[in-house]
Amino acid sequence: MRRELAMGQGTDSTTSTTGTTSTTGTSRTAGAAERERARKTAAGLTYLTGFGNEHSSEAEPGALPLGRNSPQRAPLGLYAEQLSGTAFTEPRAHNRRSWLYRIRPSAAHPRFLRAGNGDLRSAPFDETVPDPNRLRWSPLPDAPAGTDFLAGLWTLGGNGDVRRRDGMAVHLYAANASMTDRVFGDADGELLIVPERGGLLLRTELGLLSAEPGQVALVPRGVRFRVELLDEQARGYVCENYGRPFTLPDLGPIGANGLANARDFHAPTAAYEDIEGPVEVVTKYCGNLWKAVYDHSPLDVVAWHGSHVPYVYDLRRFNVLGSISYDHPDPSVFTVLTSPSDTPGLAGVDFVVFAPRWLVGEDTFRPPYFHRNVMSEYMGLIEGAYDAKAEGFVPGGGSLHNMMSAHGPDRETFERASAAELAPQKVDDGLAFMFETRWPVCLTRQAAEAGHLQWDYDAVWQGLERHFTAP
Ligand SMILES: [Fe+2]
Repeated sequence: MRRELAMGQGTDSTTSTTGTTSTTGTSRTAGAAERERARKTAAGLTYLTGFGNEHSSEAEPGALPLGRNSPQRAPLGLYAEQLSGTAFTEPRAHNRRSWLYRIRPSAAHPRFLRAGNGDLRSAPFDETVPDPNRLRWSPLPDAPAGTDFLAGLWTLGGNGDVRRRDGMAVHLYAANASMTDRVFGDADGELLIVPERGGLLLRTELGLLSAEPGQVALVPRGVRFRVELLDEQARGYVCENYGRPFTLPDLGPIGANGLANARDFHAPTAAYEDIEGPVEVVTKYCGNLWKAVYDHSPLDVVAWHGSHVPYVYDLRRFNVLGSISYDHPDPSVFTVLTSPSDTPGLAGVDFVVFAPRWLVGEDTFRPPYFHRNVMSEYMGLIEGAYDAKAEGFVPGGGSLHNMMSAHGPDRETFERASAAELAPQKVDDGLAFMFETRWPVCLTRQAAEAGHLQWDYDAVWQGLERHFTAP
């Protein structure tokens, strides 16, 4: 087997370096030397900047055709191939597609055969009945030795119908091994990966991305990738979005800047593997995993251009806007990415971050208010604590407040915030996020019966005493 990685540079104006490295080895465990190599590779990455651009990049000079997408003979003997993430005819503003120039076309593959789904599940979620209760989980138990990112995916639940490209799923992952001679691609949706513990190196068809806790990676539908671990353990969350691709929310009266700024999204530069040898390719297709053993790596794209592109984004760059007079704004103001539905303003799923911010509201109950919401909210915690929960909501854990379930600050938080002196206050001890979706999240059986489900979650709202005194 020959394994080479060649990395290139963007033809955007924002990257400045090129690098070439190589890696060998077939072990499925993330040994210290392998992690060190991955860390060095991650540290040397350069990116293209911007969200939704017509990015372009080539790992070898002259690999990218100019002036046309599909010349009679593509440069350097490469095959030209289009990857369409939206219908050909979708409006230009929503259209996502990329042209890939690769050593072999994706069509050169053997027959896929069914593989076990492990702990992955897909919509429609009908293993349990929808649950109106507030639910909270502790972190996933550690994975058995040798578990890679794909094998470590564990589905909590979701909604919609994967065959109709509608809805979403919430997954968690716990891994301790790198994917080496296998590659994953998800035809069912795009994957928003939210590391909570341990950094990841994503080797995608379009190049390499590194995502540490506090950053998120977005892998578009169908793009194949391999995950290598940068640390001994990796743990985190994944939103699988079956619906329309995530995009930046409109800003309306906020203006031309703010929230997640487009330039802070980083796309990879082209990097390819020239591997002759068996590579297992796993694809998630209409809810099931299928696999085929290729005689070459499908991560063989030497150049590309387009808008169907993976990204990494640092949540700490989120420009947090909030109230500078009174009241706690609705958390939609913290939206990083949104997957629109056919109804304006109604998201298939929003990705929302609760990043460090100042609270200055006068005569205001400053933590998130009590509420019932037609939308369904899955929350996770990347680090620290969340300002509406004094305890029990821990990094790696998660809570689900489904459609119309009543929730809000716990008793201790309510008492404290109601009595607090309202000086300007910096909330900077945590990084929480939310996948907020238009339909109830129905649980998998494994989530409903999990040993790490906190059966006593309701207790946080017990003891909220009546203070009412009739005049
Ligand atoms: Fe809520």
